[in-house]
Amino acid sequence: MRTEQRAGSAPTGIIRRYFDHLPVSDETPIVTLHEGGTPLLHSERLSEEMNAEVWLKYEGLNPTGSFKDRGMTLAISKAVEEGSEAVVCASTGNTSASAAAYAGRAGLTCAVLIPKGNVALGKLAQALVHGARVLEIDGNFDLALNLTKEMAQAYPITLVNSVNPFRIEGQKTAAFEIVESLGRSPDLHVMPVGNAGNITAYWRGYREAKRAGWSQTLPKMFGFQAEGAAPIVRGEPVADPKTVATAIRIGNPASWIGATEASASSGGGIYSVRDKEIVESYRNLAEEGLFVELASAAGVAGLRQLKQRDLVPPGCVVTCVLTGHGLKDPDWAIAGAARPKLVPAELGPILQELDLG
Ligand code: F0G
Repeated sequence: MRTEQRAGSAPTGIIRRYFDHLPVSDETPIVTLHEGGTPLLHSERLSEEMNAEVWLKYEGLNPTGSFKDRGMTLAISKAVEEGSEAVVCASTGNTSASAAAYAGRAGLTCAVLIPKGNVALGKLAQALVHGARVLEIDGNFDLALNLTKEMAQAYPITLVNSVNPFRIEGQKTAAFEIVESLGRSPDLHVMPVGNAGNITAYWRGYREAKRAGWSQTLPKMFGFQAEGAAPIVRGEPVADPKTVATAIRIGNPASWIGATEASASSGGGIYSVRDKEIVESYRNLAEEGLFVELASAAGVAGLRQLKQRDLVPPGCVVTCVLTGHGLKDPDWAIAGAARPKLVPAELGPILQELDLG
């Protein structure tokens, strides 16, 4: 197979980059869009507010605009290796966008089940443009996931939700990158939780990084659900989850056990944040130049809550994952913003409008 590499840089895509740490062999056909290698940005504002060193892992800069690509490159590559010709997933949007893109690249058929009316426009556009067979169901994500599980059991079609173990394996590489960038593990790691695959993956990544000798310590893992969709916090499934952060509108997470294991064994926790707090952090991040989707802001809202609870020791190193790009949800982005004002195409009125005249 031809190898793609950027001149003068490390191998591209998470499979080539972390080949020895993933369940792949020379026989695995690598289906990649050069995912991973996302920036770890220092946040001056949050660092000052938290009296800590706060770093943001900007996963919205993956090829399809979310962290899902790390898991999807591996899930699709392994599906091809195993001779599969079709994949299926349930999704609140990002998984379907990623599955559609990687399946398209591999020449696989992709079927997608999404909850009716609760998928952001950009994500739907992605699944459609990449040629996935998209079906809206009259039900929520949890029901869609159950249906796809049944489909994958009864038919020769590979399920690429995070119940597919290759998804978690691929997604753990984000923790590797953080350790590589910082030269150590953070003290606290904070992120949103929906189906709970990603927190499971990060925890695995940090533990493997320590085992490999890349770091000496492990972070405390903190996950945040939206208050109206917080089954892990409540200790029971939520039948009708509700939140503006549609990506994490999930009432019965598939990786529930992985999430509680990560938080309990690291000395962290799984908590919830209110929609109002999510929106506020979304706007603050945008002011700082970081356009993320609502669900991504749940981690930052959560960090603020940890500070209030006195759980952020002064000077500690914190990483916060920004899971998806804000352009995925343009409706929400412009809903609260002032519309551009129409002015004549003349300098005078333009300057006047800008208070420069
Ligand atoms: N942030 C974003 C932007 C997401 O799309 C998701 C999950 C999460 C956070 C939560 O991650 O499920 O691993 O705990 N989105 C899935 C989807 C459910 O279908 O795209 P998780």
